[in-house]
Amino acid sequence: MAHTRSRICVALDTQDAMQAAELARRLAGAVDLVKVGMELFYATGEHGYRKVAEAGIPVFLDLKLHDIPNTVAQGLRSLMRLDPAPAIVNVHATGGPAMMHAAAEAVEGRTKLIAVTLLTSLGEEDAAAIGLDAALGTDDHVANLAELARACGLDGVVCSPRDLEMVRRVCGPDFLTVVPGIRPAGSDTADQKRIATPRAAQEAGADILVIGRPITQAEDPVAAAAEIARSLTG
Ligand code: C5P
Repeated sequence: MAHTRSRICVALDTQDAMQAAELARRLAGAVDLVKVGMELFYATGEHGYRKVAEAGIPVFLDLKLHDIPNTVAQGLRSLMRLDPAPAIVNVHATGGPAMMHAAAEAVEGRTKLIAVTLLTSLGEEDAAAIGLDAALGTDDHVANLAELARACGLDGVVCSPRDLEMVRRVCGPDFLTVVPGIRPAGSDTADQKRIATPRAAQEAGADILVIGRPITQAEDPVAAAAEIARSLTG
């Protein structure tokens, strides 16, 4: 399927605010978003977030909230007071419909709200161990949770490259797909298993590619990001 260029989101996975901010500054113009996750936010809080945001790149604040509806909604209200507000925030779909409805109400469309369906680190055995119906595959659980997230008013999901086609089928073309597990051809896969090249993920319909180490650990992160961007358009 022809698709507009996927946006590139670099994951700033570090506990050091200055290091993250410096990398964000260097990558401004070379990537479309930066991702601040638990590691950086828990270590540096609002200070680290602001330092990164000063680079002027929209921030995906990847904190994966999962609690009772009121607590998640109030947590999101606190996050919406960050200045500048994050461009994307997320919750776990397994928090259930009441929680996702409350989350959607809390962000009031001011930021994109997406859901984590099943963690991609969960295999079939793990899914059974936490009591998910073993008669269904993890694919079916992902499909159910993505559909539920959409029905609750969320804007999209985080999903693996492998899930893209199914999420598109179930949730339609306008549902935002944010896709980690991206590895440029020939690069180190590290601990990622279900991987795709940037180009393959784009062709499968990914809106946003989340890419960490292939950019952040590169000798020249700006050149690595530019090379990935070229692979998407060339
Ligand atoms: O370095 P790498 O490209 O593997 O980084 C991917 C980023 O995406 C990390 O921040 C990781 O936590 C995140 N992520 C992931 N798989 C998921 C959800 C998030 O790799 N299912």
